[in-house]
Amino acid sequence: MSGKTVLIVDENQATRAYLANILRERLFDILEAGSGKEALISAWRDQPDLILFDPNFSDLSELEFIHKLRQNARTEKTPLIAFASDPSPARREACLNAGANEYIVKASGAILRLNQALERIFGGEAPAGESPQGGSSRGKGLLFTFLSAKGGTGTSSLCANIAMTIQEQHPEARVVVVDLVLPIGSIAQIVGYEGEQNIVAVANLSARELSGDYLIKNLPQPELWKFHLLAGSYDPHQAGNLRVERIGPIVDILRASFDFVILDLGRSLSRISLPLIQQADLIPLIVATDLSTVRLTKTVWEYLSEQGIDAPNVYGILNRAVGLEGLTKAEAEQIIGFPIKTTLPYMGSNFTLANNLNQPIITKYPKDTAAIVFKTTAEEMVKLARQLRARAGLN
Ligand SMILES: Nc1ncnc2c1ncn2[C@@H]1O[C@H](COP(=O)(O)OP(=O)(O)OP(=O)(O)O)[C@@H](O)[C@H]1O
Ligand SMILES: [Mg+2]
Repeated sequence: MSGKTVLIVDENQATRAYLANILRERLFDILEAGSGKEALISAWRDQPDLILFDPNFSDLSELEFIHKLRQNARTEKTPLIAFASDPSPARREACLNAGANEYIVKASGAILRLNQALERIFGGEAPAGESPQGGSSRGKGLLFTFLSAKGGTGTSSLCANIAMTIQEQHPEARVVVVDLVLPIGSIAQIVGYEGEQNIVAVANLSARELSGDYLIKNLPQPELWKFHLLAGSYDPHQAGNLRVERIGPIVDILRASFDFVILDLGRSLSRISLPLIQQADLIPLIVATDLSTVRLTKTVWEYLSEQGIDAPNVYGILNRAVGLEGLTKAEAEQIIGFPIKTTLPYMGSNFTLANNLNQPIITKYPKDTAAIVFKTTAEEMVKLARQLRARAGLN
């Protein structure tokens, strides 16, 4: 379990030292805090992999402490173990309800229970970042490559919304979205991220700096969207400086440290995108309902097929992005030659409004048919990708 950091929070210095010794033997890196407020600062700044705390602070209530951690994107998923002197069931229940993962009473057998809890939380998981070539024992994350034959079909909007829905349905999983549309990405705009961290910056990191741990800690997790984002280039000038040869290794590192790696490739079929499509577990292909896009999609599909892509890996999504008119699903399938798995209804100006407000559809319009389609589609995509992976493993 080396490479993971535990923040130990206890007002008693001797208890901290005692726990630190035990955890260091298990090869954890240790941070310490002697008060609730100090612990919050360290939790948000250092982003430890686990927080072990005595829920008895003189400067904060334990519920306030847990709520604050859970409400902040940087610590909303950090495992929290309460290590408490108070054996009362009410205290225990309150902590667990507030979002603590475990409540262990400081009594005989406590260290055994702590070890069991660590096993449950980190069990069998290789430390992220130690295997930049992707050979980690946590297995390779599932790779989804969103693609379309034409611009403006809703690829980026669907990519962001489906990724968010997958993250929502699998809160324990790590999901990352990578915007590889050149020269200007658009996912950052959709989710409302305005920072500088993006594919060009990450591709410029040295091999030593670039690790799974680095990406987990440094990629933003936009509010409401919850997934990690590796944003695209923000202008053509910057895109010109992208070290494209680093994209393959970056995706490998992401797959070693995230459970779902979701790429927006837009309409690009190139030297860069083809090898990514070839290793994808699932290729969501977004189709619009106008005849010219459907015909172009057929051309793209024929090309992919020549490049060794199997039809079951392609996940056709018909998106009515421009209105109700256009071809039916059956007509589109007939022309393209592969099944369309799901159809997203036309949402009028609501989709653009949600995008402009940086809100996911399932949050903004939870009752809309589109929200239901996003949920069933996300579920089905994950299930299908896992089946395809299992089948590929048998060959
Ligand atoms: N089902 C839908 N109903 C209504 N509007 C939609 C729907 N899907 C997408 N849109 C709108 O279509 C526009 C284009 O979407 P988006 O930018 O996601 O497409 P894209 O294929 O990624 O385009 P680009 O080629 O620019 O990358 C957006 O304004 C979005 O709000
Ligand atoms: Mg796009």
